[in-house]
Amino acid sequence: MDAARRRGVYGSPAEGLQLDVAEAMQLSPLVPGADALEGLTAESLTDLVMVAPPGTTERRYALALALQALAPEAPFTVLAPKDKGGSRLAHELDAFGCAFEESGKRHHRICTGRRPVRPEGLGAAIAAGAPRRVGALGLWSQPGLFSWDRLDPGSALLIETLPPLAGKGGDFGCGIGVLAHAVLRSPKVKALTLIDIDSRAVEAARRNVDDPRAEIRWADLRAGTAGLANLDFVVMNPPFHQGGIEDQGLGRGFVATAAKALRRGGVLWLTANRHLPYESVLKPLFARVETRAEGRGFKVLAAHR
Ligand SMILES: C[S@@+](CC[C@H](N)C(=O)[O-])C[C@H]1O[C@@H](n2cnc3c(N)ncnc32)[C@H](O)[C@@H]1O
Repeated sequence: MDAARRRGVYGSPAEGLQLDVAEAMQLSPLVPGADALEGLTAESLTDLVMVAPPGTTERRYALALALQALAPEAPFTVLAPKDKGGSRLAHELDAFGCAFEESGKRHHRICTGRRPVRPEGLGAAIAAGAPRRVGALGLWSQPGLFSWDRLDPGSALLIETLPPLAGKGGDFGCGIGVLAHAVLRSPKVKALTLIDIDSRAVEAARRNVDDPRAEIRWADLRAGTAGLANLDFVVMNPPFHQGGIEDQGLGRGFVATAAKALRRGGVLWLTANRHLPYESVLKPLFARVETRAEGRGFKVLAAHR
């Protein structure tokens, strides 16, 4: 790449949109190993393509960080599916003082423009979307993370149901670390590996889980067990959304990865919406599956390897 060019891409634009992201550095928190948008030197990017995230506050935060990182008058393309924030992009870019053109393709709104010399309102949007300690949880969190400012009822049911665990375990899709807190209350737990694909969750979990038995990793569990094997237990509230889009295959992949990471006799503790058919996913992979709790629209399953 031309030494003077420093291209960025945030997320993975659908191929059919034919956007040029060659040699661009990946900046999405959902791609393990990516550079952090918030860590870039101001005005250092020469162009950016951004698949804007679905939540309003997280999207305005990401847009503001992007405009802060772009050089004055550097070109940008920002896009999102129409029903996942795309229809609001123009209004939001307008509020930052951007001049741009808007078009539509393959259910996306696409805004193409140049970073203004003096964008407006970046500080307020960055402050509104930044990591912070959430009083109600007593934990660090950030808008855009799963159930970021309240305990999810499914996670709460799992926490209430879990017996004291023992040995080596995994917290798959750890989020900000709410399940890990409950697991680590048991003195018989020797080691717990927390894994999440979202660097914002990983950063929050690092602040929240201060325990020498815990190891926190930024990794994609679709790619395998991240080297984990012979675990005594795994806990999870598996994801069923990716980028705001429902994807039940994600949860199935989580279960298959847990089955590989557990020792024979090890137990997967899983919480899920009652309507999600996890039993049929678990039964071929585990020796025994029990429903251990039900309530508030959720169920807790214990699957014995
Ligand atoms: C339903 S949330 C549960 C979070 C937390 N365990 C709780 O109970 O509050 C699922 C988590 O899985 C993470 N996740 C989604 N896809 C993933 C993947 N492929 N690999 C690792 N983590 C993933 C999400 O970022 C999210 O934090």
